[in-house]
Amino acid sequence: MGGLIVMTEVIAHRGYSAKFPENTMKAFKEAENANADGIELDIQLSKDGEVVVIHDEKLNRTTSGKGYVKDFTLQELKKLDAGILFPDLKEKQTIPTLEEVLAWLTTNTLTCNIELKNGVFRYQGMEEKVIQLIRDYSLSTRVVFSSFNHYSIVHCYRLAPEIEIAPLLSEGLYMPWVYSASIQAKGFHPHYLAAPNEVIAASLEAGIAVRPYTVNKEAEMERLFQLECSAFITDQPTKAVELRKKYKKDKA
Ligand code: G3P
Ligand code: CA
Repeated sequence: MGGLIVMTEVIAHRGYSAKFPENTMKAFKEAENANADGIELDIQLSKDGEVVVIHDEKLNRTTSGKGYVKDFTLQELKKLDAGILFPDLKEKQTIPTLEEVLAWLTTNTLTCNIELKNGVFRYQGMEEKVIQLIRDYSLSTRVVFSSFNHYSIVHCYRLAPEIEIAPLLSEGLYMPWVYSASIQAKGFHPHYLAAPNEVIAASLEAGIAVRPYTVNKEAEMERLFQLECSAFITDQPTKAVELRKKYKKDKA
């Protein structure tokens, strides 16, 4: 009996952000409609300590507001339009709380890569809040924490070893699979230019997952499918899922 082998997973970067406003419920739901395997999202803390889903420390680029996220309460943030990058979209989008996204995740089987954006502002207590929410919604096995702040994900691991962590790497690192294993990470998320074939192959061989970001070019997607890379993070889930079809094969 032949079965499908495990394929490179497609993770929608900030949701389906090529076509819908990044880090909004619309972008996440459209990623599910596009048959992505998972979503990636970014979190910051509001003035009153709520975990909110937005990429930048500032509101200016993606919302109708101005200033730092950390200087506004959730109630104030919720009044903003989070869809300004796609003005033709009819439905109004707000900045989601992480809790809204987790509640929605209980209705499907997507994985969720939560990137803690605590490199500029430390957001004391962020890790504890996020872990509590994930446990409340029983989503520990479907979440991977990532961050450029590796101290933060190690802190996460110490608080909640049941939730996977993965360091983000913007530059090439010598033997990143060894480094990842040394901090108890089962995988790492490199910039795709910092993930040459030999590094991906050696990491997979060592049992360490590799999930490069942000992969939007077809040739790059093909390279990763051919290597049977664990996953990649893309703004274009429809394109990735379509391209992947030709790599689906039956197990002997
Ligand atoms: O998770 C990878 C990627 O999202 C990191 O960069 O700036 O898009 O959050 P950025
Ligand atoms: Ca991110």
